[in-house]
Order: sequence, then structure tokens, then C-alpha cells
Amino acid sequence: MNYQDVERTIEFEFVRATENAALNTIKWLGRGEKEQADAAACDAILGVFDIVPVRGAVVIGEGIKDNAPGIFLGDRLGTWAPDAPYFDIALDPIDGTTNIGKGLPNAISVMSASPRLDPGTPAMINIPAFYVEKLAYGPRVVAAMARHPGHPVSLDAPVGALLDFVAGALDKRVPELVVATIDRPRSAPLIAAVRGAGAALRMISDGDVTAAVAPSLADSGVDLFYGIGGAPEGVLTAAALKCLGGDIQLRMWFKDERQRADTARVATPADLRRVFFSRDLVPGQSAIFCATGVTDSALLPGVKLIGATAITHSILMRARSRTVRYIRAVHNLKEKTIRLRGDSAFHTVI
Ligand code: FBP
Repeated sequence: MNYQDVERTIEFEFVRATENAALNTIKWLGRGEKEQADAAACDAILGVFDIVPVRGAVVIGEGIKDNAPGIFLGDRLGTWAPDAPYFDIALDPIDGTTNIGKGLPNAISVMSASPRLDPGTPAMINIPAFYVEKLAYGPRVVAAMARHPGHPVSLDAPVGALLDFVAGALDKRVPELVVATIDRPRSAPLIAAVRGAGAALRMISDGDVTAAVAPSLADSGVDLFYGIGGAPEGVLTAAALKCLGGDIQLRMWFKDERQRADTARVATPADLRRVFFSRDLVPGQSAIFCATGVTDSALLPGVKLIGATAITHSILMRARSRTVRYIRAVHNLKEKTIRLRGDSAFHTVI
């Protein structure tokens, strides 16, 4: 099977899926019902893929930290016709469910896929931990790292040296740098170090995929992402960065000994300490990454409702071709229907 051709046609189904998830979720904006929002997004994604001729094996689903309704590791997307192309799938039907519940920015629906050519060789790696440290940067930093083998772009480097290097790679001064992080008590040492070095901070409350992809996009206003967030979101970020030429360093992080012991039962001692890069997390030949904004973020505008029209913004990328598409869709809500898995029927949006 020629996966290059398959990817070209299949990739647009991912846009339909994340668009439908965003549209089906918008009715829960600000209603304090994050599980309902998540369930609505899952229902829409499953509804789209139920009629798409692929064998999609979910290798990274809803975070084990969430305990939420959803699409999980081991679930299947697509028709699973015997000769259909086989993809490993990573998804977060909504990254930033709390944000939707509160009507805050930074929520997206996000999916990624990588063709699995050999059944025994995963195309995307599931990290069996709740949390990971993440350091994500764009292509210019990657290029500078290649030029300077002794560089300090590492989870173990002093933050001051790291920021000096990143500023140099981007032709900026450290005070001009913007570092995004997730605002949690566990981020306190990092926040102090970034402030101490004199760089600007952009703290987000939730939804770190958008913030970690942002440094790889020109004009996002974010130069570096550094923080501790969900493991599945880290792998989704890696898929995006494989398409954009940026990179992420990711290492398991445990909030307590119990979490460490739980993970130690399923991970090797070496993996517990290992720093994973994009190429380790998404070793497959290619990757598709797709996201639709639900609420505004550094990556994408959110859904806009104007009378009987909804406007969605999506990003669709493919690692093999490095094409990055921004898709602005105008949906006529009088005519538009969304297929949901719940009853296998088509429904209006609002
Ligand atoms: P969900 O919307 O999938 O729940 O994730 C939101 C999120 O903010 C992620 O973007 C982030 O990686 C993680 O949760 C952080 O976890 P926690 O809220 O437990 O600190």
C-alpha cells in the first residue's frame, strides 16, 4: 500500500473530525460541565471515523490522570475493513476541558496519526506516566543546537544558560524572549528561574499542546515552552513538531513515590529516567497532526458563532511533506449536520 497517497486523502477526515468535535462542544462553553464537553467531542470524533475506511488503533488516548469519559488506549477508529490502511492514533478530543467549562482560552480538539507499516513496530510511543517534563522549541533552535554540540538545551541545564542560548538562536536578547509554561505550584522553581533570568513568561492555566507547539510557528509570540504537563499531550506535541521541524524533550515526572512505583511496574528503569525526543515518541515514517480551536489560543482562534454561521480554524500538517495548512471553515448551521457515534445519526450543531 502506498501510504503517501493514503495520507493525502485520509488527512482531511481528521479535519472533519476535530472540526465536528469543536462544534459539538461549543454548547458546553462556560457551563462548568467539562465531562459533558469531553463526551460531546468524543462522540463527534467517533461518529466521523465510523465511516472512514481506516484501521486506526488508539495508542494514546485520554490521559490516565483524567478519569474522564472518552477514547482510550486500545480503542479503535475507522471501519477496520481488512485491507484498510493501518494507523496508530493519538488524540485528545479536547485539550483544555477545564477551559471550556470556564469559558477560558486555550482549548483545542487535537488528533495525530502515523502509519504503522509493520504490525510489531509502534509508530507512536505511549508514555506510561501521568506527567512529564517538557521542553519544546522551534526549528531555529534545533538548527543552532546542530551547530553547537555543547549547547545547553536540556532538561538538566541551568535555565539562565538555556535562555541565553535560545535568545542567541533567535537573534533576540533574553528580555525579549517569551517562555510559556503551565501555571501550577510544581512550576514554581522554573517560574522563579525564568523571572530571575529576565525573560517574559506566558502562563497558561490548562491546554499545553497549543503552548508547546507555538514556538515552532512563526509569529506565535512564544519562543520556548518549558513545563510539567500530561504525558499524552507531550506525544501529541511531538507529532506536531515532527511536521514543523521543531523538537521536544520529554521525561517522566512523578508527583509522589506512589506514582513513581505505579509507573515502575510497567516501564524499565532506563525509561523512567530517559529523555525522549520527537523522533523517539513518533518513530513512524510520517505523521499527520490536526487540531481545531475551540477557544482562542496561541495556535488557533476558537469557534466563532455569528447568527446561523459558525467559523472554525484548524491546522493540518503532514511530516512527510512538511505542508502546514490553516483551514478556515464557514459552517452554515441551518444546513450542517454532524454524525455522532451515540446513535449513528446526523444532528444539527446547536
Ligand atoms: P485535559 O483537558 O485533557 O484534561 O488536559 C488539560 C491539561 O491542562 C493539559 O494540557 C496538561 O498537559 C495537563 O492538563 C496538566 O495536568 P494537571 O491539570 O493535572 O496539572
